[in-house]
Amino acid sequence: MSHLTRTQVAIVGAGPAGLFLAHLLRRRGIESVVLDVRSREQIETTIRAGVLEQWTVDLMTELGLGERLSREAHFHSGITLQSGQTRCHLDLEELTGGKKVTVYPQHEVLRDLLGAHQGPMEFSVQDVALQDLDTARPRVTFRRSPDGPLETLEADFVAGCDGSQGVSRCHIEGRTEYQKVYPFGWLGILVEAPPSHHELIYARHERGFALLSTRSASVQRLYIQCGADERVDDYPDERVWQELRERLAAPGWHLTEGRIFQKNVVGLRSFVTDRMQHHQLFIAGDAAHIVPPTGAKGLNLAVADAVYLYRGLEQFYAGGGRARLDAYSDTCLRRIWRAERFSWYMTTLLHLNPQENAFEQRIHVADLEYLTHSRAAATSLAENYVGLPLEG
Ligand code: DHB
Repeated sequence: MSHLTRTQVAIVGAGPAGLFLAHLLRRRGIESVVLDVRSREQIETTIRAGVLEQWTVDLMTELGLGERLSREAHFHSGITLQSGQTRCHLDLEELTGGKKVTVYPQHEVLRDLLGAHQGPMEFSVQDVALQDLDTARPRVTFRRSPDGPLETLEADFVAGCDGSQGVSRCHIEGRTEYQKVYPFGWLGILVEAPPSHHELIYARHERGFALLSTRSASVQRLYIQCGADERVDDYPDERVWQELRERLAAPGWHLTEGRIFQKNVVGLRSFVTDRMQHHQLFIAGDAAHIVPPTGAKGLNLAVADAVYLYRGLEQFYAGGGRARLDAYSDTCLRRIWRAERFSWYMTTLLHLNPQENAFEQRIHVADLEYLTHSRAAATSLAENYVGLPLEG
């Protein structure tokens, strides 16, 4: 037997795009149902990057979700770029007229969004399929358990916020996909230790990239560039510390070590779908685009898509027609390509690419020196790092 439910917006995926969208819609009295194939626990514990742009923080506050963030997040007014043993401090706040960055990990954002959401949510669903997307009554079908009945969620619109492996993207007809896979990955660790530095350090070194970030007064997050096909097992703790000590070394500075309690490896890629809508289906976040982690733009970009989609839906339900919805892809893609450019630039600038020759590698060192000596160059990096303004 099949069970039928109706809502205004069916949201597939309870990540940043889906949950911000659900909160924004609810504030305007627009109903949604959020579905995810993952369990709530999986969503709340999967470790991702941790830098929020100022407007993302402002939006959380506006939605009444900023309380824990204001207590627990780290607010940084600058970052340090390092080339070999030479460090350069970029005063982001001064270079951007007062903007800061906030270090608050994605799974904490998701915990806040999940904890405060009042509308219906379904976790650990299976067999998710999208149907009748080119009619006024698109449907999402799914099961609550492997042999449970097929559930049907009928909606006015479907928001595909189901990530790069989700079912939504393949329904966008006539799309062109652009991709670049980088020939290296990141090994990330979580460490029990006090911070070694008051801000993030991004280092380019002849042994490869390293990043020093933070999570709390007692937990630190660090990354090193590794080979594209290397695994966690290739990096016993002592090897990780050896690489971090060398890559982050600077005169008079000491890296505080501690117990490593989590290690993971991720591949790096850039990906864009140049169309994000098909009739009543709109895709957002990682379903439509991936950035390499350098610069931590992924979550912020997903939230920007959610804001643009919300504005289109709000206009539609207020009787203002489909103009904003029709412009959704173009509006999102202008911001997406800028963030793709910046993430690609930061990645290229700071990593040792085995496919580049010595000349190309030396150019990146010159670029880092230029950033140290030119206020114009530093301002350009800073303006992108703190986040470009939302349109409209
Ligand atoms: C973090 C991740 C990033 O990709 C980055 O650029 C900065 C910080 C982090 O996980 O803390």
